[in-house]
Amino acid sequence: MRLSFVSWSLVSYALLVLLNAQGSSGRKIITLGNGKDIKKEDSIDLHQGGDDGRSSSHMDHMDPALNVFFTPKDLKRGKKMPIYFSKNSSSTSPRLLAREEADSIPFSISNLPYLLQLFSFPQDSTQAKAIEYTLTQCDLQPIKGEAKFCATSLESMLDFVAALFGQNTQFKVLTTTQLKDSTTLLQNYTFSEAPKEIWAPKMIACHTMPYPYAVFYCHSQESENRLYQVLLAGENGEKVEAAAVCHFDTSQWDPDHVAFSVLGTQPGSSPVCHFFPSDNLVWVPLPAQ
Ligand SMILES: *[C@@H]1O[C@H](CO)[C@@H](O)[C@H](O)[C@H]1NC(C)=O
Ligand SMILES: *[C@@H]1O[C@H](CO)[C@@H](O)[C@H](O)[C@H]1NC(C)=O
Repeated sequence: MRLSFVSWSLVSYALLVLLNAQGSSGRKIITLGNGKDIKKEDSIDLHQGGDDGRSSSHMDHMDPALNVFFTPKDLKRGKKMPIYFSKNSSSTSPRLLAREEADSIPFSISNLPYLLQLFSFPQDSTQAKAIEYTLTQCDLQPIKGEAKFCATSLESMLDFVAALFGQNTQFKVLTTTQLKDSTTLLQNYTFSEAPKEIWAPKMIACHTMPYPYAVFYCHSQESENRLYQVLLAGENGEKVEAAAVCHFDTSQWDPDHVAFSVLGTQPGSSPVCHFFPSDNLVWVPLPAQ
């Protein structure tokens, strides 16, 4: 089996962890870097270089990858803000397996020793830790009001989406698309049009997980969320069609969620919005015909 393990990066991984770290269940979040929970002070530990220019003083020492949070009042044409998008290179994505192939490989934390042998990763390697992290996250029970599923193939992802939306519901996918190959990770972008709200009575966000082949952590939370499509113009001329979500009820979030320190807010005090990285998929139902 030809498998590469190039796509996972600590930065997008850290982002995933924080995007998932919602809810009050006390679900533990771990970092690869130091084995601690991500708290606001720790996020710099995941720093991967490539940063420059932060705008305001409370963002000093901030991981550049945290430049994805904003509030609904920012959603207007002409708004300018620094945003981090990971490099757009399909060559670094892990291979998406067909369902038959994916189903022939065990996918459970109880199979960790076998899987490390299969992929030839030494037990203490970062790759082994990443595999362990992904399997652990995928084995967790959903928190209250959440539906979750780890998809190891496109077919299984579509099955989950169809089951959650109802078998007769049509649906579509939204992504963040860099309209040309991106070279800059962090730069100032201007909202070049009024952001467009996407009808989304329900939504399922699928985040890529660090793994030797493509694994998506898909989840859906029952709470007031609004989905947007935003056309962004970078200072260097790059254009991004970005998907973004605003979570209107943050009252149950962990007060240590990094979004609050980035935005200077508290749980329940104001909505939290964020852009989706370009390797995420957001599924929404289509209105019945
Ligand atoms: C990456 O850039 C190419 C153009 O170079 C574009 O066609 C593709 O949609 C982009 N991919 C993502 C995920 O943004
Ligand atoms: C964005 O623009 C502000 C001022 O317009 C500047 O201070 C800041 O360094 C810029 N940030 C980036 C990442 O270029």
